[in-house]
Amino acid sequence: MILLISILGSGKVGASIAFLCVSNELDDVLLVNTTKEKAIGESLDIASAIPENSKFSIRGTDNYSELVGSDVIIIAASVGVYTKHRAENMDFQVEMIKEIAEKIKQYCPSAIVLLVSNPLDVLTYFFQKISGFSRFKVIGIASSLDTSRFRYYISEKLSVPQSSVSNALVLGEHGDSMVPIFSGVSVGGNPLFSMIDSRETITENVRNYWRTLRTFKSRSQFGIAKNTFDVINAILKKKEISIPASIVLDGEYGEHDVAMGVPVKIDQNGVSEIQKIKLDDTELSSLKKSSQKIRNDIKSVHD
Ligand SMILES: NC(=O)c1ccc[n+]([C@@H]2O[C@H](COP(=O)([O-])OP(=O)(O)OC[C@H]3O[C@@H](n4cnc5c(N)ncnc54)[C@H](OP(=O)(O)O)[C@@H]3O)[C@@H](O)[C@H]2O)c1
Repeated sequence: MILLISILGSGKVGASIAFLCVSNELDDVLLVNTTKEKAIGESLDIASAIPENSKFSIRGTDNYSELVGSDVIIIAASVGVYTKHRAENMDFQVEMIKEIAEKIKQYCPSAIVLLVSNPLDVLTYFFQKISGFSRFKVIGIASSLDTSRFRYYISEKLSVPQSSVSNALVLGEHGDSMVPIFSGVSVGGNPLFSMIDSRETITENVRNYWRTLRTFKSRSQFGIAKNTFDVINAILKKKEISIPASIVLDGEYGEHDVAMGVPVKIDQNGVSEIQKIKLDDTELSSLKKSSQKIRNDIKSVHD
C-alpha cells in the first residue's frame, strides 16, 4: 500500500511539519511549492534528518500531479504575510485555496485534507465547498494551537506546570473572536473556580499570542507544526485523538454552513465525532459572535 504525506507550501510552517514527519519516520513526504527551488532546498535539508534505519524519504516539486496517491494532504501555502489580522489577505488566499481544491479533487479525491493556512476557518469552509469532499475529511488545524497557548497562560498565572492544566479548550474562530472555555478547566484535578478576575486578561493574551510572538520573531512555526503532526500521526497510526479543530458545521452547536473550531475526535478516517460539550451562557454567546464573524468574512468573499 502506498502512503504519502503531501505538504503544500514549503515555507516556515510547511517545512517544520515536514521535518517532524520525517524525523519521526511517519511516512514518505512530498513538498509542493510554487517556487520549485524552495521545495527542493527544504527537502534536501530535511533529508539529512532521516533516521538511519528509516524506510521513508522526502522530495520536493512544483508539480501538483505528483500528489497522486497521497493519503494525507496538508495545506500550509500562503501568498502573503499578514501583519494586523489573519483575514488581511483573505481574497488572495481564497483564490489560492479554490485553485488548490480543484487540483486535489483531480489528483487525490480520497485524501484527508488538513488546512493550516489563514484565514483558517474561511479557507476550511471554501475548500470543503469547492472540493465537495466529505466535511469529515476536511479539517482546519488551529484551535489545538490556541488551546496550547491558553494552557500556557493559565499555568503562567497560577505558577503551575502546564501538565497540571487539563480540559482547557479554545473554540470558534482562529482569530480575534476565538473563545477560551474556562468552565471545564481543571488544575491539578480540581475545577478552576479562581481566576475570575484574570479571565478577560487571559482571553486577550491568548487572542494576541501571535502578536506578542511577532515582536520577537518574524512568524510562528513550531507550535502549529507539532499540533499538525499530532493529527497526521493519529490518522496514519490509527490512534484516535480528541482536539478542537475547524470543521464545516451542519447543526452542531446550533450552527450551519460555517466552519469553526469545535471539539472533535479524529481517527484514520478523519473526524469520527463532533463532541458536544457543556458551555455556560457567556461562552455560548461568545461562540455565537465568533461564528457570526466567520460567516461575515465568508460572505464578504462571496459578494
Ligand atoms: N493554523 C495556524 O494556527 C497557523 C499558525 C502559523 C501559521 N499559519 C499560516 O500558515 C501559512 C503558512 O505560513 P508560513 O509562515 O509557512 O508562510 P511562508 O513562509 O510565507 O510560506 C508560504 C509558502 O507557500 C507557498 N505557496 C504559495 N502559493 C502556493 C500554492 N498555490 N501551492 C503551493 N505552495 C504555495 C509559497 O511559495 P513561494 O515561495 O513560491 O511564494 C511559500 O513558500 C500562512 O497562511 C500562515 O498564516 C497558521
